[in-house]
Amino acid sequence: MSPEEYHQLHRDAQENHEEFWAKRAQKLTWREPFLKTLQWEIPFAKWFLGGRINATENCVDRHLLTDRKHKKAIIWEGERGETRTLTYQELHEKIAGFSDLLLVSGIRAGDCVAIYMPLVPEAVVAMLACARIGATHNVIFGGFSSEGLRDRIADSSCKAVITADGGFRKGAVVELKQVVDKALENNACPSVKHVFVFKHAGNPIVMTPGRDIEWILAPAQNDRAPKGFASEHPLFVLYTSGTTGKPKGIVHGTGGYLTQVASSFEWVFAPQESDIYWCTADIGWVTGHSYGVYGPLSAGATIFMYEGAPLFPEPDRFWKMIARHGVTILYSAPTAIRMFMQQGDDWVKKHDLSSLRLLGSVGEPINPEAWHWYSRMIGGGRCPIVDTWWQTETGAIMISPVPGVTELKPGSATRPLPGICAEVENGFLVVKKPWPSMTLGILGDPERFKQTYWSQIPGAYFTGDGVVQDKDGDFWISGRVDDVLKIAGHRLGTAEIESAVANHASVAECAVVGKPDDIKGQVAVAFVLLKEGELPSPELEKSIGRCVSESLGSFARPSEIRFVSKLPKTRSGKIMRRILRDVVIFGKVSGDMSTLEDGYSP
Ligand code: WT7
Repeated sequence: MSPEEYHQLHRDAQENHEEFWAKRAQKLTWREPFLKTLQWEIPFAKWFLGGRINATENCVDRHLLTDRKHKKAIIWEGERGETRTLTYQELHEKIAGFSDLLLVSGIRAGDCVAIYMPLVPEAVVAMLACARIGATHNVIFGGFSSEGLRDRIADSSCKAVITADGGFRKGAVVELKQVVDKALENNACPSVKHVFVFKHAGNPIVMTPGRDIEWILAPAQNDRAPKGFASEHPLFVLYTSGTTGKPKGIVHGTGGYLTQVASSFEWVFAPQESDIYWCTADIGWVTGHSYGVYGPLSAGATIFMYEGAPLFPEPDRFWKMIARHGVTILYSAPTAIRMFMQQGDDWVKKHDLSSLRLLGSVGEPINPEAWHWYSRMIGGGRCPIVDTWWQTETGAIMISPVPGVTELKPGSATRPLPGICAEVENGFLVVKKPWPSMTLGILGDPERFKQTYWSQIPGAYFTGDGVVQDKDGDFWISGRVDDVLKIAGHRLGTAEIESAVANHASVAECAVVGKPDDIKGQVAVAFVLLKEGELPSPELEKSIGRCVSESLGSFARPSEIRFVSKLPKTRSGKIMRRILRDVVIFGKVSGDMSTLEDGYSP
């Protein structure tokens, strides 16, 4: 995009916010045109009312009418180096076949379906097959334990679970089906009628007759044309962490979501027909949804997918694959970049990365040192870096440079995209007008939605991030101002980890705070008060860690457990995390302690 075109977009958006987005929405294929652009009853926005749309038709079917029919939609590489490719036509066949199986098995529009899959093309097929029939998908990251999985399935009353026998990670098989079986044990999720199982890893599994259905990749029995669903029909729910122990089911609609995801993909990644685009995020996170699947496929791009671990079998795995497949756009995360940096430059230098033309970053602030290394070592000094700020709740990129237009500043996400009214208020990042991919709310909890996002700053969406704007108007986002941590890019609530720690039989009370970490950005430190008669020991420390792995997933394990004889509390009994943060970061307590119940010495 030329700077002139870009500035014109900004002017159009400023002049008429709704008309601007209506024009963007018209670039999609609608089954029935929308009649009203926006219905805004703070804090609930409904976009493109009256319109009927099918997300899968926009991501797949419409490309079959063009030269893209035989273009590669997905290039996949497994951990052992095997590869598969699917053209748009082949992707369509698989989606048609699987959506037919879903329908025949009684899944209907409006039902919620959990997806617990390894990063294989069938995970994308599962998402788009749900979307095709109007079933709301709920992708749950493959790193969640059976308890984490069960909570998320139960909260959204899923009618079915789509999984695989297993996946590959670090040379071992992850027993996904077994975790699903455990999550559903003792009728813990009575809403689940079926479990669809894709055979991938070949590990032995137990099929429960009547409930479990093997996903046979057969062509569709019936050729069903995609049906249009209301623009505000829930396309997916995705759980994310907040400040309480209970994760939030963030709901996204269809027409508005797709409009902004498609537009932002076009602006930020400026796709060219021959691009091989790689978003390294797992589909279990929103990045994997918006820029792993819906954004690039709606643009008719070729996506690259890798199933395994980033450093397996050697630290140059990523660079080897970029050279092998000719990846041109790489969208990754600061924590990954810092991890590769630590491995040393020689692993990178072994490979020809000249196919790359654009780099992206998301998930947390990128420190200038990592930015420069990314730019120089990976981008060869010729690739712009788009530092994209957004959230599960925003659905799509909100603040980002646009390549060829925006002057880049290492560490700054620069400016809001056209049609995004992001501002700084009291040091907080807020958004002043609704945007199309804004969440429809928290599943089953409209009060919590109002409380969390719409009660801090009157009339504005509160992001939970701190920010400063420099003299040029560029945004420098510093990170969360609430009790939400970003551990290796994973968003986790301190309260969520606390309740996992407190599940341990020996723990009386616990408080978790974040500690800065050179690679992961942040890690969790747990202060643990043991029950009467329990004594601290390295074994106990390990067993508490295991308890977190079982309750949530090993990615949530605290990096450090500190046994204490007392936790600092206010007179009303609230744990004073500020004090614990000081202890963790500065090794001492500073500031006002007058509200403490009694003295505290760590
Ligand atoms: C939080 C949202 C957006 C998809 C992945 C994360 C932090 C995200 C940036 C960035 C500084 C960033 C914020 C935000 N964050 N991108 N470019 N610069 N901080 O989605 O798990 O919902 O987390 O990630 O703190 O609030 P998420």
